[in-house]
Amino acid sequence: MTLWGGRFEGGMSDITRDFTGDTSDRRLLLVDIVGSIAHVNMLSETGIIEPEEAETLIAGLESIRDDAGSFEFVETDEDVHTAVERRLGEMVGDVAGKLHTGRSRNDQVALDLRLYLREAAQARALQLRGWVESLVTLAEGTADVVIPTYTHLQQAQVTSLGAHFLAYAWMAVRDLGRFSDCAARLNESPLGAGASAGSTLPISREQTSQALGMLGPMPNTLDAVGSRDFVAEYVFCCAQTMVHLSRLAEELVIWASHEFGWLQLGDEVSTGSSALPQKRNPDIAELVRGRTAGVIGDTAAVLSLQKALPLAYNRDLQEDKRLVFHADDTVSDAVEALQALLTGSGFTIPQPSAGTAALPLAERLVARGVPFREAHQVVGQLVRRLEDGGRTLDEATIDDLMAVDDRFGATDLEVFEVSAPVINDQISALRARLSENVP
Ligand code: ARG
Repeated sequence: MTLWGGRFEGGMSDITRDFTGDTSDRRLLLVDIVGSIAHVNMLSETGIIEPEEAETLIAGLESIRDDAGSFEFVETDEDVHTAVERRLGEMVGDVAGKLHTGRSRNDQVALDLRLYLREAAQARALQLRGWVESLVTLAEGTADVVIPTYTHLQQAQVTSLGAHFLAYAWMAVRDLGRFSDCAARLNESPLGAGASAGSTLPISREQTSQALGMLGPMPNTLDAVGSRDFVAEYVFCCAQTMVHLSRLAEELVIWASHEFGWLQLGDEVSTGSSALPQKRNPDIAELVRGRTAGVIGDTAAVLSLQKALPLAYNRDLQEDKRLVFHADDTVSDAVEALQALLTGSGFTIPQPSAGTAALPLAERLVARGVPFREAHQVVGQLVRRLEDGGRTLDEATIDDLMAVDDRFGATDLEVFEVSAPVINDQISALRARLSENVP
């Protein structure tokens, strides 16, 4: 039975029921009950329903909440809200019909999703915190491992593997902050906006908002039931996080190749090939990269969903939930898997190529007052001269240097003794940021 049968003579067909119903919203069960309890308390305190009625409704809702793990949905439940009301009716009888007083599923679902994402954002921020911590730990362990940096995928300068990991740690700190910002912005209450323009009953929107720990009721009821920018923002937070993970994943795939040989995948985090016995594949990294596509798609879909909707609520909005849940789950799984991949792998880095010393060499001249453009030219000539003789830059002698420019000095050959940059300050700064950003 539907909750809105009064104006119809016949029932809806199975096709209509199956097509219009939603099962993806079942994970809203607990927040739906939290919202309903706040609503019922308000109805009683404002004298709209009797205190005894409220007691019965709340006892029923609490018992559904306590047995949420074994809640049984039935085929005719149009969505999670309908299911709770149906179950409440089975438990407490006709008084269940008072639950929906002064409320519509339109404000109810907008509230539920806000409550759900408020918690999800916290969980994600906490998870990213762990991710940053593991990157920092990895960076500490690889702070002395010299690697080349790349621009255009050509060796450029030198840094440490630790510094490379810290780059991802900084990205993750911003991702974490974005989830927290998003949670703060979505924390306002649409409840009481009703179907679109509130209720004629003396409900208190202030009271439910306060009971739910929200900043306040959303002033405009059309905005409250019709807007989903908070969903778009949340999905974007997921997409940007995935894009960061995907860039690292891409590097890990490259590093695991025979040609690079930087990354040795442990058995626990490797996959094999059904055809090629010798293979050890970085499937975790590839799937993080691959699933990023889906989350970028979720973002596009949530935005597209809204772009042509007349105010206020339209059923199209039912589709936002599966998208945002998919995005959130994907981030959660990807962080976990990538963390495991890094923990279960080793790194062996060959010496960076000699060319990475070219800029430091030019800067020796710059330090003596030579204009940079001229110093660039001089080192370029040196590289060509050495190349002509079949030698690399680090094979240069002081005579080679003096032959191209007599402003070079004997100590300039020091540039070939590369060492990793110090990253302690960054590590302390990251740790300080984490303590500010406790979600
Ligand atoms: N399941 C619906 C959704 O997620 C709840 C709101 C239904 N409202 C309505 N007017 N049919 O959007």
